[in-house]
Amino acid sequence: MGTPRKLFIKTYGCQMNVYDSERMAEAMGGQGYVTTDSPDDADMILLNTCHIREKAAEKVYSELGRFRGLKAANPDLKIGVAGCVAQAEGEEIMRRQPLVDLVVGPQSYHRLPELERQARAGGRALDTDYPEEDKFDHLAARPKARRGPTAFLTVQEGCDKFCAFCVVPYTRGAEVSRPVDRVVTEARDLVERGVREITLLGQNVNAYHGAKDGAEWGLARLIRTLARIDGLDRIRFTTSHPNDMEDDLIAAHGDCPKLMPYLHLPVQSGSDAVLKRMNRSHTAESYLRLIERIRAARPDIVISGDFIVGFPEETAADFEATMDLVRAVEYGQCYSFKYSPRPGTPAAERPQVPEDEKDARLQRLQALLRDQQRAVQDRMVGREVGVLFEKPGRSPGQMVGKSDHLHSVFVAAEGLRPGDMRRVRITSSAANSLEGALI
Ligand code: SAH
Ligand code: SF4
Ligand code: F3S
Repeated sequence: MGTPRKLFIKTYGCQMNVYDSERMAEAMGGQGYVTTDSPDDADMILLNTCHIREKAAEKVYSELGRFRGLKAANPDLKIGVAGCVAQAEGEEIMRRQPLVDLVVGPQSYHRLPELERQARAGGRALDTDYPEEDKFDHLAARPKARRGPTAFLTVQEGCDKFCAFCVVPYTRGAEVSRPVDRVVTEARDLVERGVREITLLGQNVNAYHGAKDGAEWGLARLIRTLARIDGLDRIRFTTSHPNDMEDDLIAAHGDCPKLMPYLHLPVQSGSDAVLKRMNRSHTAESYLRLIERIRAARPDIVISGDFIVGFPEETAADFEATMDLVRAVEYGQCYSFKYSPRPGTPAAERPQVPEDEKDARLQRLQALLRDQQRAVQDRMVGREVGVLFEKPGRSPGQMVGKSDHLHSVFVAAEGLRPGDMRRVRITSSAANSLEGALI
């Protein structure tokens, strides 16, 4: 074989796309590709896209336009679009952007090598099927190369919840869980390659119901099983839906030491009227009760969430209810967005909140969330936490890693290496990180 071809992948959107990009790179590895950090010397460029908000989707077209020069300079360059925009607008992409050689959806990327061959043979290729076969059964075994201390592992895909604002049920399809044994095998394999922390991923990860010997296992049972893997020190999971927080999963936060004290549990709004129109099937009150039960199981858990402001017909009073809920919860981390109408979703047809009103609400919400995040972080000062070190810090001799509660922690100490897990006393809190000293 000659010199390997180079693959440049740019990933947008959620962690599930990060995981998929890794798997796509591995699949193309079997075709003789190595990855590169720059599009300039690539033989293939793959955009792994996100459709969740209008801005995310638009980026794809502007990014593609920028590759025109590269393609003119190198006619052998192949350009592909993967991910949720590919799924939602594959044919339109092909029509609007002749630069694109192939389009592949999130459920069919095991066919990427074949599509690339078609494109190399001079055709254009599109595959946005929801195939009968499971892509994970058709992807090559994961390579044995050493890897960093943290990894994502997708255990569940798709969503059946149909929140009125959201494209995910359309771009990712129905809820499917990977079988327990496959997940355990992949986790063991990651640990053998140096991984010490695994984040289990799913669009609705706590709706996991994987098959095991003819039975169905929930997420808590899966976590307890993974916790028995020697060398795996930390388990996290994301993203969860409030309606799927089963009792045993709450209990696991109290009695499974490897399950980290951090939970991303989006609520979207604090107004019951808005929640109803969002088709969330929970109320602000039921969410608050749930948070209480989780905190009873694990008092120091850091709660994280997502909010949408300016959902169609959201009134000033609805928004105040969101502010009240945020005050009641106290978030350690939070993501908040202006509502973005998405084609094909029911909420896009409803009367919209004016843009300047959305802006004003978002600013107020984000100011409150920033204060809360800082307060939660500041309260870590003086505490002892576990830190898994990942990479060098800002100054010589310093390393940075994540605490159990997912704060970034900087520590200056001789001989620390990526993958080391140490007890650390937190000494100070800055804008977005903590500093500490080894105990
Ligand atoms: N499955 C996860 C998250 C999916 S998308 C869940 O159910 O929580 C991540 C976040 O993007 C959502 O939680 C929501 O806050 C936001 N989001 C989704 N659709 C959106 C839209 N149309 N406009 C603005 N934000 C949106
Ligand atoms: Fe989207 Fe709602 Fe499903 Fe989350 S639960 S992916 S917000 S439809
Ligand atoms: Fe975006 Fe698709 Fe993830 S729309 S958030 S990449 S599931």
